[in-house]
Amino acid sequence: MHDEALRTSARAEQRLCERLRLETEQSEALLRAMHAGNAGRQAVVFSPRAPRGYEPPFACADRTSFPWLPTRVRIPESGENPTRYADYAAGLYYVLDLSSCWVGAALSSLPQEPQRSLDMCAAPGGKSMLLAAQVELHDHTANEVNAARRGILRQNAELCGLPNTRIMSLRPDQWGNSGEFFDLILVDAPCSGQSLLCKGVKNPGCLSSSMVRGNAKRQRGILLSAVRCVAPGGHLLYSTCTYDPEENERVVAYIMRRIGGFSACEVPSLAAYRTWLADFPAYRLMPHHGAGAGGFCCLLRRENKEDD
Ligand SMILES: C[S@@+](CC[C@H](N)C(=O)[O-])C[C@H]1O[C@@H](n2cnc3c(N)ncnc32)[C@H](O)[C@@H]1O
Repeated sequence: MHDEALRTSARAEQRLCERLRLETEQSEALLRAMHAGNAGRQAVVFSPRAPRGYEPPFACADRTSFPWLPTRVRIPESGENPTRYADYAAGLYYVLDLSSCWVGAALSSLPQEPQRSLDMCAAPGGKSMLLAAQVELHDHTANEVNAARRGILRQNAELCGLPNTRIMSLRPDQWGNSGEFFDLILVDAPCSGQSLLCKGVKNPGCLSSSMVRGNAKRQRGILLSAVRCVAPGGHLLYSTCTYDPEENERVVAYIMRRIGGFSACEVPSLAAYRTWLADFPAYRLMPHHGAGAGGFCCLLRRENKEDD
């Protein structure tokens, strides 16, 4: 990289650490992880095809270091490639980032199984797979606006046997006007993807203010539509794989302020990851926490008049 580009990049990193209000030690850890690019870690999520009591044909890490890990998720020992087994080709498990599984752990605090669920930004299907690993899918919609990605989503859903699932292609605003209601909506939003850097994936511009601002605007738009489809007493899980508070805590704060009738839920299994950047419960995973490259999640609940 040229000197000027290096300086710009260093300034952007510095700005991110300031926005995250990190202590020196934490800033250093984050920047080390971004430069090393080796914080990514894989997990496998058992699909509905995997029978009860199923165990994968490879050695897995001890679960006790990951108390939030959903029951039907395993972490292959490092160096293991879970895609080289016949069980993978047969759709018995789906390979997903460990950080995505961390996000999915928020679903453990749902008070009851959702009867109708919508995964609004679903491709290639990881969050729908995680949901299916934790609850029975009764009436699930996996939605994806991008046609090519929707094709992959469809293949994955078929291979892994997601039950009672329809694949749809509506834009968020179309959902907002659809008059449909769901007990659970997953919004795993498109984002600047800053955590990709910690996985060694090039993502030019992901730290720039304009990229972050543009994504935050799109996320607010998606959520403003999504909240219209949450049934009274229902939940919405918002997640990203980026660090900037503008795409995370501030998006959620904006929605709660603008819409009303929504509150953020405590997720006891993620208590150790509670964000220091909001006065409501929301959770952030950083690369130095040892559970993959990182992410953010917040579980919102829509009030029900019967609550009173
Ligand atoms: C982070 S990815 C979803 C990953 C997926 N949930 C999973 O776990 O496998 C975000 C998705 O949002 C889609 N997307 C992009 N722009 C969108 C928009 N304006 N509204 C809704 N979805 C959008 C992308 O095509 C992408 O598939």
